[in-house]
Amino acid sequence: MIKVLSETAEMEKKDMETKITRDEAIRLLKEHNKEAFHIQHGITVGKVMRWYAENHGYAGDADFWEVCGILHDIDFEEYPEEHCRKAPEMLEAAGAEPELIHAVCSHGYGICSDVEPEHEMEKFLFASDELTGLIGAAAIMRPSKSCRDMELSSLKKKFKDKRFAAGCSRDIISKGAECMGIELSDLLSVTLEAMKASEDEIAEEMSKTV
Ligand SMILES: [Fe+2]
Repeated sequence: MIKVLSETAEMEKKDMETKITRDEAIRLLKEHNKEAFHIQHGITVGKVMRWYAENHGYAGDADFWEVCGILHDIDFEEYPEEHCRKAPEMLEAAGAEPELIHAVCSHGYGICSDVEPEHEMEKFLFASDELTGLIGAAAIMRPSKSCRDMELSSLKKKFKDKRFAAGCSRDIISKGAECMGIELSDLLSVTLEAMKASEDEIAEEMSKTV
C-alpha cells in the first residue's frame, strides 16, 4: 500500500467530528439531489474518503471524512451556478460545524470557491472528486463493468486520453496531486484502490436508492 503523507497525520489532528451522522448525510444528499448520478457520486466520494482516512492515519476521523465526501456537492443540483456558495447555508441549516463547511467549500478552490484546501482531508477531497468520476467512467466501459480488474496502467491511459470522459478535468486531478504533495501516479493508484475496496458497498447503497 502506498503511504501518502500519513506521517503528518498526528500534526494535523484537530477537532474532526460532526454531529451529522452518515445516515443523516445520505438523507440530506437525497433531499437535495434527485438524479441517481449525483447521489452515486456523493456516496462514492464519501466511501473513498472513508477508505483513505482508515488506511492513511485518520481512522478515528473516518466518520467526519465520509460525511464531508457525501455532502461535498450538496448544492450542485439545485444551485449549479452558485456551487460551493449555497452550500454553507444549506449545511448550517442541517447543523454542520464550521470545519465541515470549510471542507465542503474548499473542494471548489480556484473553480467556484476561494476557500483553500488546508487539511489533508480537504486536499484529498479536492483530488478525488474528479478522479472518482474518471475511474467510474472507465469502469463502465469494461466487460466486467467494474474497476476491480482495472490495472493502474489502464487508468493512466484513460487519464492521458483527453477525449475519454472529457468532463473529468485532468488539470484539477493533477492540481490535486500537487496540492497533496504526491506524484500523480500515486494519487491514481491510491484512489483506484479505494474505489475497488468500496465498489460493493456503493452498489449496495445505491440499490436502496432506486
Ligand atoms: Fe463532486
